Amino acid sequence: MREGLTDLLGQIKRQLTNSQEIGLDSPFLSTESLHYLTGAPQLDAVPLRKNSYCESLEELEDFISTCDRCKLSKARKTLVFGEGSPHARLVFVGEAPGVEEDIAGKPFVGAAGKLLTDVIKAMGLTRDEVYICNVIKCHPPHNRDPEPDEIEMCFPFLQNQISLIKPEVICAIGRIPAQSLIDRDFKITRGRGQWHSFMDIPVMPTYHPAYLLRYPQAKKDVWDDVQKIMKKLGLEDPRRLRN
Ligand code: URA
Repeated sequence: MREGLTDLLGQIKRQLTNSQEIGLDSPFLSTESLHYLTGAPQLDAVPLRKNSYCESLEELEDFISTCDRCKLSKARKTLVFGEGSPHARLVFVGEAPGVEEDIAGKPFVGAAGKLLTDVIKAMGLTRDEVYICNVIKCHPPHNRDPEPDEIEMCFPFLQNQISLIKPEVICAIGRIPAQSLIDRDFKITRGRGQWHSFMDIPVMPTYHPAYLLRYPQAKKDVWDDVQKIMKKLGLEDPRRLRN
């Protein structure tokens, strides 16, 4: 019970800190609770870093282009901000840039990216009509999983990005995005295909295309999930994803 509460407080604190960093208020808590959770002596004494909230994607990209908040900045070739329509109705959130993305400076351009592009086409859309980005903007060495502190440092940028695009649906591609957007204990095999929510935006978690490259039989699950997204967006005439 005590451990559970500590964990819960830790999660709330992390959300609060992230929200404060991008200049969002936290209307659901009393001032006293806010002081307690953030460890702030006085709210007035802790100015919200409103100046770190960017008002456009261009401004945000420029703002983070020199980011050195975490150790990933040291080895990156390029910071992979994201690309697509700034007015996209659908945002795909992946994990982190791979080697090819690190070189190209664009998300999902390698083998997994080609498969994601096929999925987008099968939905009757183009990459230009959606928005594609990652939880982590810099390539983790040897394609290792991003570490919790790296996710924590980068997460406010994703929140800022999403709050500017205001999509109708987010597709969380794989475990790391689902755990970052939905719940850190999220199990992708059990929880994919069901609607969740992030910043009041419906989130559909599905398998990562890299997983589909290894297990092509899971394409039908992804197609089921994608059809739910299409239904929500009122898109019609789907074509089947071929194995
Ligand atoms: N995998 C991801 O999660 N993101 C990319 O941009 C490329 C591969």
